[in-house]
Amino acid sequence: MREFDFIVLGSGIAGLSFALKAADRGRVALITKRALADSNTAWAQGGVACVMSDEDSFELHIKDTLDAGAGLCHEDAVRKMITEGPERIAELMKLGVHFDQRDNGNGHHELDLGREGGHSKRRILHFRDTTGHEIESALVAQIASHPSIEVMENHMAVDFITTGKLGYAMENSCVGVYVLDEATGVVETLRSDVTVLATGGCGKVYLYTTNPDIATGDGVAMAWRAGAVIANMEFIQFHPTCLYHPAIKSFLISEAVRGEGAILINERGRRFMEHHNPQKELAPRDIVARAIDAEMKRSGAKCVYLDITQKPADFIKSRFPSIYETCLHAGLDITREPIPVVPAAHYQCGGVKTDLHGEASLRGLYAIGEAACTGLHGANRLASNSLLEGVVMAHNAFEKATRRQRNPVSIDLPEWRSGSVQDVDELVVISHNWEEIRRLMWDYVGIVRTDKRLQRAATRLRNLHAEVQEFYWNFKITTDLLELRNLVTVASLVVDCALSRKESRGLHYTLDYPNRDDARFMRDTVMRRI
Ligand code: SIN
Repeated sequence: MREFDFIVLGSGIAGLSFALKAADRGRVALITKRALADSNTAWAQGGVACVMSDEDSFELHIKDTLDAGAGLCHEDAVRKMITEGPERIAELMKLGVHFDQRDNGNGHHELDLGREGGHSKRRILHFRDTTGHEIESALVAQIASHPSIEVMENHMAVDFITTGKLGYAMENSCVGVYVLDEATGVVETLRSDVTVLATGGCGKVYLYTTNPDIATGDGVAMAWRAGAVIANMEFIQFHPTCLYHPAIKSFLISEAVRGEGAILINERGRRFMEHHNPQKELAPRDIVARAIDAEMKRSGAKCVYLDITQKPADFIKSRFPSIYETCLHAGLDITREPIPVVPAAHYQCGGVKTDLHGEASLRGLYAIGEAACTGLHGANRLASNSLLEGVVMAHNAFEKATRRQRNPVSIDLPEWRSGSVQDVDELVVISHNWEEIRRLMWDYVGIVRTDKRLQRAATRLRNLHAEVQEFYWNFKITTDLLELRNLVTVASLVVDCALSRKESRGLHYTLDYPNRDDARFMRDTVMRRI
């Protein structure tokens, strides 16, 4: 058993920001499934929403967030994130993060603020169209050279260790974690009174996603197994515009492209958003994604098109260099032709339910970033609010975790016991089940739902769960098997939450209950393992 002052799982903006702050107070173990810089954050294109101009105000950003959240945002969380944003942005800039600037016409430079759907003002800080990469690189550079941080790459957390399971007579607390070293196959036992889960979302539960392969909902699944409260998993955000191309998977075409004037057209070249919402292409994401879904279902077309050709080519190349280059590589010149796009799973608005300092219902376990449900997003996340939440919540969790007294009793953790040392005999079962989950979630638990489809998914997931458990107990664990185990758990949570919400609200839209029902459902969907 190795002991640390803090254990951090995940290396996106939330995990890295927490680790950097905590490292000045003690020893930090930073666990990451792949390389340090592999995270969902690194893929973020749009930027960070933050009130930074005189024309904007906290109240306007708060109102936009509450409007998008369709009645389920927690106003105290929204206020906290938005009003604390500028201070956290200043810290990021001090750490070396650059945001684009522009000439303000008086010979001075000011932040070049972008616009995205649902925002009434320009307030998106960005670095071209690779904001996440810029933030990730700056934080990784700081982490890599910090003497108090032990980075454990290619290590995957298996399960939390709780006092309840160990039989201690005290409030159930998280006191450590078992971690698989992928290279050796050895499971290590790590002990700490503070475990921070910053493992991101679960986009890979769907066949089509804008997320990287690592987004398998590991943190939520682990927290669920440990008995923590999980909330609002039915609210999965589908990004309206993922590139539709046979050779390129999961490539996002940023909402900022629409923010700069791109229009959506169908296969006949006709604009259609005006039939769906007065804000047209800048309507909130759920509305745009559903409109595209309806358009594709109506016409039978495989995609719709995003057209930015009316903007000067030089502007497109300098504002969206990564999108321009990636599409050009695929044989598509976006300065001259429209971009084929489809909606794809993008963001998990629910997660491990936390207080305003990121602590979960299990003492000593903190969840920050996409893995958490703080109340900021409600039933639908406003674009670019998530990097903001990640950095603000890292700070708040750090404050609480360092104020809190450590466990008074000394706790010894049992070593991991491998039930079986057999290698998985048929790897095909793992890959088949992965694909089956992703396909069934796409077909039955997508943008438009019905009870019948959800029931069908629930039944199939129950069988898959039993099959995966059998594998888990009978064979040597691997990263693939652990990810599959987490995927099936998270998929079931999405379905169970969706089945319990008998109304349509925000990102959850069902043909069986097409209207919002405030009398019965103006509340979070809360789940806890019994
Ligand atoms: C985008 O660039 O469209 C993504 C921004 C976000 O999801 O917040």
